[in-house]
This record gives sequence, C-alpha cells and structure tokens, in this order.
Amino acid sequence: MKYAIVSGSHRPQSQSGKVARYIAARLAVLNPQASSYVLDLGKTPLPLWDESIWQGDPKILDIWKPVSAELADSDAAIFVAPEWGGMVPAALKNFFLFASDGSFYHKPGLIVGVSASRNGAYPVAELRVSSYKNTHIQYISEHVIVRQVGDALNGDIPQSDDDASLRKRLDYSLSVLAEYAGALQQVRASGVLNRKDYPFGM
Ligand SMILES: Cc1cc2nc3c(=O)[nH]c(=O)nc-3n(C[C@H](O)[C@H](O)[C@H](O)COP(=O)(O)O)c2cc1C
Repeated sequence: MKYAIVSGSHRPQSQSGKVARYIAARLAVLNPQASSYVLDLGKTPLPLWDESIWQGDPKILDIWKPVSAELADSDAAIFVAPEWGGMVPAALKNFFLFASDGSFYHKPGLIVGVSASRNGAYPVAELRVSSYKNTHIQYISEHVIVRQVGDALNGDIPQSDDDASLRKRLDYSLSVLAEYAGALQQVRASGVLNRKDYPFGM
C-alpha cells in the first residue's frame, strides 16, 4: 500500500506541512508495510498549469512527470488543505489541474482541513464540490478538521484533550481510508471503468 500526501499551503514553513508529515509518520506506525510520498507545495511548488502541457512542452512536463508517477503509483491520497480567506490556496487548485491526468483515477481520498483558529470547514466543502470531477478522486465520507493547528499534532505526546481526540479521529479516518484503498483496487480492476471515452466528469 502506498499513500500520496499533498500539503496545499504555499508557505515553505507551513502548519499544513507539519500536519502532512505527522500523517506520514502515523501511517508508518499504523501500517508498517505501507509507504508514503509527501508533496509539500510550499517546498516543491508547481508552475502555474498551462496548455503547453498538452503539446508535451518539456518546460512544464519535466516538472510534473516525476510527481505524476509517484501519484499514479499510490493507492490512496490525503489532501491537507489550509483555509486561506475561506478558500483552498491557489497552489492546491493548480495542483488539481495537473492531477486531472488520471493519476488519481478512482482512488480514495481523505481531506484534512486546517485552520489556525476555529474554522477549517470551507476547504473541505470546496474540495468536495469540484476537485473530484476530472481527477476522479473518490473522497471518502470521513474527513478531519485540524483547528487551532498551532496547538495540535506537535510531537509524539498529545498536549491537551482536544489534541488527543483529534489524533484518535485522524487514526480512525486513516484506517477507513486504508479499507477503501483495498476495495477500490477491485473497482479499477473490474473492467467497467472507461477513461478513454469518459475522461471528464459531467
Ligand atoms: C492568506 C491567508 C489567509 C488565511 N485565511 C484564513 C481563513 O480564512 N480562515 C482561517 O481559519 N485561517 C486563515 N488563515 C490562517 C491559516 O489557517 C493558518 O496560516 C494555518 O496555519 C494554516 O495555513 P498554513 O498551512 O499555511 O500554515 C489564513 C492564512 C493566510 C496565510
């Protein structure tokens, strides 16, 4: 089992990056056989998507290809989405344009919203509304919202009751995601899916 973990903040030293690395560490504990690929868009930014990619322009394709290969090799994905101005950061929206290339095709996705204060629900809603359409990612019904992120998921020991309950919720959601990862392998192997004729959702 391989997981792709995407941190959607533009900031190189972001809290979302911290959360992504915490999740990678938890996955290694929960399932020692599994591996994770972490893409931190604050540390490894993608260029703005443009249509030269359709002509195979190496300027853009050479950057995207190795990322796409890692995603295509994954069985499930986790999207750490900070709330910026009530929205998902532009880097993450841009990422989903690149990721419409089939690398997430009928794979399960877990959304993790992040807020420095008490919000964090808007990125969950925003990703559920549209980002699945051409990527064909299958968001599971569980999601996690990391509120007061500065006080959460720091180190191995929970710092508060809220931190402890968040960690439990995250472990539970990751366990559910793992089951969907196994189940959706069967869907992809079923022979029913037809990306050639239906590459874009309606
Ligand atoms: C441009 C910008 C806008 C933000 N807007 C919101 C917001 O609408 N709601 C919120 O809860 N936090 C907001 N924040 C604070 C983030 O929740 C905070 O930076 C948190 O650490 C997650 O972002 P990070 O992963 O970049 O660190 C904003 C932060 C930035 C940089």
